[in-house]
Amino acid sequence: MARILVNNSGPLHGEVEISGAKNSVLPLLAATLMTEDICEIEDVPDLADVSVMKKMLRKYGAEIDDSVHGIIRTRTPEIVTFEGDRDLVTEMRASLFTMGPMLARCGRIVMPMPGGCTIGKRPIDLHLKGFRALGAKVTEDAEKGTVTVEAGPEGLSGDAIYLDFPSVGATENILMAAVLAKGTTIIENAAKEPEIIDLANLLNKMGARIKSAGTDMIRIEGVESLSGCIHQAIPDRIETGTFMLAAAITRGDVLIKNALPGHVRPIIAKLKECNVDIDIAPEGIYVDARDKELVATDIKTLPFPGFPTDIQSPFMAFLTTVKGQSVVRETVFENRFMHVVELNRMGADIQIENREAIVPGGRKLHGAKVRATDLRAGAAMVLAGLVASGTTEISEIYHIERGYEDFVGKFKALGADIMKIDD
Ligand code: UD1
Repeated sequence: MARILVNNSGPLHGEVEISGAKNSVLPLLAATLMTEDICEIEDVPDLADVSVMKKMLRKYGAEIDDSVHGIIRTRTPEIVTFEGDRDLVTEMRASLFTMGPMLARCGRIVMPMPGGCTIGKRPIDLHLKGFRALGAKVTEDAEKGTVTVEAGPEGLSGDAIYLDFPSVGATENILMAAVLAKGTTIIENAAKEPEIIDLANLLNKMGARIKSAGTDMIRIEGVESLSGCIHQAIPDRIETGTFMLAAAITRGDVLIKNALPGHVRPIIAKLKECNVDIDIAPEGIYVDARDKELVATDIKTLPFPGFPTDIQSPFMAFLTTVKGQSVVRETVFENRFMHVVELNRMGADIQIENREAIVPGGRKLHGAKVRATDLRAGAAMVLAGLVASGTTEISEIYHIERGYEDFVGKFKALGADIMKIDD
């Protein structure tokens, strides 16, 4: 099994270029299923999850040209199957993003139940609630482990849909399904993440009529058909946050290029509370944690524009190194503290009480054999390894490769003592 080895590296220094956002690119690629025309998505990161999505699209009948690095061109003249591929869906939960587009384009999709990171139950009830509101019939087959969603003979029709929680995936799936529905759809309590705006921008370029994406009430006027377009994905705000924390935990200074400050405001605010200097420069976000006494702060994860759950574990690794005790509260996912066991193996001594982690600061972490229990937990282990004494050996790194482009290479370029071992 491949592993990452990290040694205590001293302060990181230099520049890092942020890639296109994984969580944008996956739904953007899924949306290209909604037209027969050519679509071109730019700034696509080279990630395992993107490969899964390309395979998924090909199964549905897409022709894909990915010969130019960072650019994916798709054309789907005809949909050849209504069934999502079980292996691919099991491999990646974001395969679910093909449900809305398939329903919109063909009025039918049979989907095996999804896989992905093991961070809580992650149901899809809100996606299905939205499809039902648009007039689709939803049939669950527990024996086969599939969900079939079918529009009636008249197709989908717009309606008001209230989401009980502003789920990112449900908002995206319903948005895509509603674009080709008859009449007006309103998604209330919609997710406001930047990736939703990116998807709406792509769909509007394709001919959709979506208003107010990025607010909690999205309005969609259905259109007859969509056409092709060229679209550049937004930069990855979670990768941005991860490198901000890499500078902070190592007490280094790093210029993070191709980052959008507006997408990482809570991370900037919280790092500032800890005494880290952050400068928004024209060329990027400059994080400087040299020669400072850094102090504790509390974190509560929330939907955007609150503190992102995906940065909770990397931030927790950082908090083990500052002065004072911090409390980290996870409100988005119910089981997203699996990294605590791993950080504790490195000497963190974090206690969990319900959905709160009590993080004592000032710990001297030591290297250990740890697991990347999910994608972001894997990043947290690398950050901890950079400041731990000795060597940290991280297994199950396929999680990291799902979501971070050239992770080891980017860290090495900042002076980290890190390597990947394939055996
Ligand atoms: C997306 C991101 C993920 C991020 C998460 C929250 C992608 C590919 N992944 O995941 O990195 O951590 O947003 O910012 O974009 N829920 C329900 N019913 C549903 C759907 C969700 O109860 O039908 C719950 C989930 O169990 C969870 C919460 O809503 O507790 C948030 O999930 P959601 O926003 O849907 O996350 P994802 O779209 O899966």
